[in-house]
Amino acid sequence: MPRAAVERLASLIPHDFTLGVATSAFQIEGALDEDGRGSSSWDEFAARPGVIDSDGSPALACDHYHRSGEDLDLVAGLGVDAYRFSIAWSRVQPEGRGAWNEKGWDFYDRLIDGMLARGLSPMATLFHWDTPLALEHDGGWLARATALRFAEYAAEAGRRFGDRVDRWVTLNEPVSLTLNGYALGIHAPGRQLLFDALPAAHHQLLGHGLAVQALRAARVRGQIGITNMHAPVHPASRGPLDWIHAKSADVLLNRLYADPVLLGRYPRIPSLGRRLNPTDRRTRADDLATIHAPLDFYGLNYYYPARIRTGPGPTPNGVQHTAAIGKTPFHLAELPEYAVTGFGWPISPEYCGVVLGELKQRYGASLPPVYITESGASFPEPSQSDGMMHDDARVAYLASHLEAALAAVGPGGPAEGVDLRGWYVWTLTDNFEWAAGYTQRFGLVHTDFATLERTPKASYYWLQQLARARHRPA
Ligand code: NOJ
Repeated sequence: MPRAAVERLASLIPHDFTLGVATSAFQIEGALDEDGRGSSSWDEFAARPGVIDSDGSPALACDHYHRSGEDLDLVAGLGVDAYRFSIAWSRVQPEGRGAWNEKGWDFYDRLIDGMLARGLSPMATLFHWDTPLALEHDGGWLARATALRFAEYAAEAGRRFGDRVDRWVTLNEPVSLTLNGYALGIHAPGRQLLFDALPAAHHQLLGHGLAVQALRAARVRGQIGITNMHAPVHPASRGPLDWIHAKSADVLLNRLYADPVLLGRYPRIPSLGRRLNPTDRRTRADDLATIHAPLDFYGLNYYYPARIRTGPGPTPNGVQHTAAIGKTPFHLAELPEYAVTGFGWPISPEYCGVVLGELKQRYGASLPPVYITESGASFPEPSQSDGMMHDDARVAYLASHLEAALAAVGPGGPAEGVDLRGWYVWTLTDNFEWAAGYTQRFGLVHTDFATLERTPKASYYWLQQLARARHRPA
């Protein structure tokens, strides 16, 4: 990207804005059997034949557990302000209840100190989908008890790291675990419960609320929030059925997780509401008060918009990606007018602005400051020339999304006045992309999975230039 374009973008970034990069434990660490780590739902799921693209095994991943110093050096080399990582619950509490594993805590203790030594502000995610297997075998997030166990773990993390972590994310994208993990079965724990998966949504949200209480009780000095994915939803046509189904999809993807947290109530879709929580009404009201705990920030992951069309959908992995709330089914339609990422996701920075506008319109004064906790894209292996890995599509993706987000909250933008505090790129290195294994590369840094060699791509140098340009005195 021409220098002038980088300088122009840098000039749009407010001085106190946080630029960072984000990762998650299971996707990078490897060392699944080391130093007393317990198994997680993902260890078990990924071992099933045929569930991970090209039989990718997470056993080694990026071997970050043994190379965390090198990886932190790469983050520091970017010149960004912050690093978002996740703690693998089963590494620090192998059974998800009871005894702590000191060697596991030590790893994250060193990691956090490593960030601080490099001038990086730590953002810790407590749960990024890797449920301790013992808890999963007892029902996982379908069981209310998991929310209580999660709060105990959060309290301990707060007690140990509360003096050093600047921002806490309780849960990452609970929608993804409910839908992919419990409803469709394409992620761990591989259940195909369709609408019977909904208690997993409620119990994750309850776990979030209880974890907020636990962190506050531990008097952590950092800010506390949650990360939700938002996929702005629109109907494929003006027809009434597409319109109604788009409303339902919006509830299932977005509002089910944002409304209770920010407004203290579940969105209205009567047939859905009844299925949310098997507990009685009184408990439900108390739960909502817990879930509605005041937050210091709201984390937004934006990747793509969703277009909803009435009728049955495609069936990747043999799973019907179709839902039906009334009598007719509906599905996520393609958006053929957009270029797509390696995953086939439409590239549409303008919807990043739309989603911020929706947050403003829906949650108004109830919306705390916002961090975009993930923004990024997968693209095929970059071409190499002049000794450089040219992932120019990623540079364009990242620059356009950051610019769209900043414009949306600026004067005249759809989200004018929303207090956008930061933007974290997903992700540092190519890594284990869940069911896609190693076939989707999201990294600023290329990983050679045979040698584990890390090589910064053009996007890495672009972000470095951007970070430098914004700190240069005018
Ligand atoms: C969001 C998830 O939090 C992250 O784990 C994943 O790799 C990205 N989406 C890309 O799919």
